[in-house]
Amino acid sequence: MEYKKIINGIVLPCIGFGTWKITDRSQMKDVISNAYNIGYRLIDTAAAYSNEIALSKAIAEKNIDREDLILSDKVWNTSRGFEAVQEACKKSLKKLKTDYLDLYLIHWPVSMKLYPDWESINAATWRGLEQLYKEGLVKAIGVCNFKIHHLEALKHSAEIMPMVNQVELHPGLNQNELLAYCRENDIVVEASSPLGNGQILDNEELRRIALKNKKSVAQVCLRWEIQKGVIAIPKTTNAERMQDNLNIFDFSLDENEMKVIDNIPFCGGIGLDPDEVEQFG
Ligand code: A2P
Repeated sequence: MEYKKIINGIVLPCIGFGTWKITDRSQMKDVISNAYNIGYRLIDTAAAYSNEIALSKAIAEKNIDREDLILSDKVWNTSRGFEAVQEACKKSLKKLKTDYLDLYLIHWPVSMKLYPDWESINAATWRGLEQLYKEGLVKAIGVCNFKIHHLEALKHSAEIMPMVNQVELHPGLNQNELLAYCRENDIVVEASSPLGNGQILDNEELRRIALKNKKSVAQVCLRWEIQKGVIAIPKTTNAERMQDNLNIFDFSLDENEMKVIDNIPFCGGIGLDPDEVEQFG
């Protein structure tokens, strides 16, 4: 495993485990047991995934020490604002049966289309996260799906800037401009949907590079992300694929392969533009 240090000194593994869509308790139990045995330590969840209780039960049944896990959670859009976000975090802590989170993220920026005062709402929610951080309830704080203008706006009021920005990133959606901005501003980027939600795995260019490196397309995607300095959080319920997704540290992509993958046009994924989404409110 390789690791990435965020601005406050906390070290995160470059590959985490995503739990979106795993809600069934018995499935969660198997998945967490396998993921832990295989070597995953960073577990990514969100209030909106409705699986915090299932996750905490799975961790308890596996007898995993709390210090052995890096738990990352996200506040949902219905709990925005200084007070609401703190209450939401405390609820999540109860559901997860823990007294701290390793990383707590704002799940979505406020939609500009719906709220003219998006900037002040984001700022208030962020102040709530800063408060949680100061109180030690969360060891690191960040955002998801924030574009450059969301981060720039936050600079006007933030005492502490986001340490992490989790965004959709995969071949076909290289996020290069945002990556450069985050690098300059000491924000570590996490790739959600690093395999394009499983929709990019038959891309010809990726298949050719995978064949050449004797790796799978999924491994090539994850390797490309790691080499771009990003933490990737792939999702799978299949133990073999969990293993495959960690077996990416024994090869590297050359400069040309990196460039070719960088230039692949959008070929699958979720593809939601935070400025355009209205369905999340
Ligand atoms: P499954 O759960 O059946 O393994 P993302 O992480 O980008 O959201 O992608 C998740 C999708 O990719 C899931 O449908 C998952 O399916 C699939 N997936 C995850 N890892 C692999 C892999 N190593 N090879 C092929 N498909 C994978």
